[in-house]
Amino acid sequence: MKRVTIRVPATTANLGPGFDAFGCALSLYTDVTFEETDAGLEITGCDEAFTGPDNLAYVAYCAALATMSEELRGVKIHIDAHIPVCRGLGSSAALLVAGAMGANALRGNKLSTQGLLNITNAMEGHPDNLAPAFYGGLTASMVDNGLPVCVNFPLHPDWEFLALVPDFDLPTTKARAVLPEQVSRGDAIYNISHGALVLKALELGDEKLLRNAMQDRLHQKYRKSLIPDYEKIESLVRTTGAAFCLSGAGPTLLCITQDERLEEKLAQKLDALTTANWQMLPLHIEFQGARVIASE
Ligand code: HSE
Repeated sequence: MKRVTIRVPATTANLGPGFDAFGCALSLYTDVTFEETDAGLEITGCDEAFTGPDNLAYVAYCAALATMSEELRGVKIHIDAHIPVCRGLGSSAALLVAGAMGANALRGNKLSTQGLLNITNAMEGHPDNLAPAFYGGLTASMVDNGLPVCVNFPLHPDWEFLALVPDFDLPTTKARAVLPEQVSRGDAIYNISHGALVLKALELGDEKLLRNAMQDRLHQKYRKSLIPDYEKIESLVRTTGAAFCLSGAGPTLLCITQDERLEEKLAQKLDALTTANWQMLPLHIEFQGARVIASE
């Protein structure tokens, strides 16, 4: 029986104004091993609650097999997750990507990356975490006639990402439920213009431009109330000169900087300022997307 292990990077989506469109892969990983068996499903390495057939890695695995018209046999799945769950760092997208890529690798790689993206986007509903998880680096995506179109953007290599991860989770469904269905023309213009400049600032390595452009009117102001300490942390980060945004749907808050001493500067003040327990996670850009790291 064949076995493959897929490594998928963490991803931060939105990057401020790029709601449901921008994403970047980061240096934190979930590894998922798939081993074909004669029958049945066995999932290990995660909470008991996630060991059933609704596990996202398994759902994507089955969907990829169905797309290839391949027979579903038994499978053992082992999850070694280092991406914190439900924290806005792409943990769900990582499982979907691993599942689809695992099935593809076990059955002769019949599907292209675009094909895998189509399958997983139909499940996730937006490609902003999936695209950087598959391709690495910085991506922008659109959905056209129901299908994701994703491209990589140049990214200055000196950026450092400091993720501030709280000890509570925030399901994406809850963080999307607080968003209005309609937005004003002014807010739409604000986000389109700021989004374009965020991409340029990330390419140039221009911290001042990034700080100014990384502002949003479509989601962050509605989600703040779900994240205790949000405003206090934002004010603190802004005194350092780093750019600041919500990572994905939150609750992780993200600082982007070239200042190697940012973590040290924040550490002195974060504990005194906050009510929840916030862990600082220094991360780099991951330029490589999901890949097979072991196959036998
Ligand atoms: N763009 C998504 C959101 C990312 O902000 O809701 C989380 O899946």
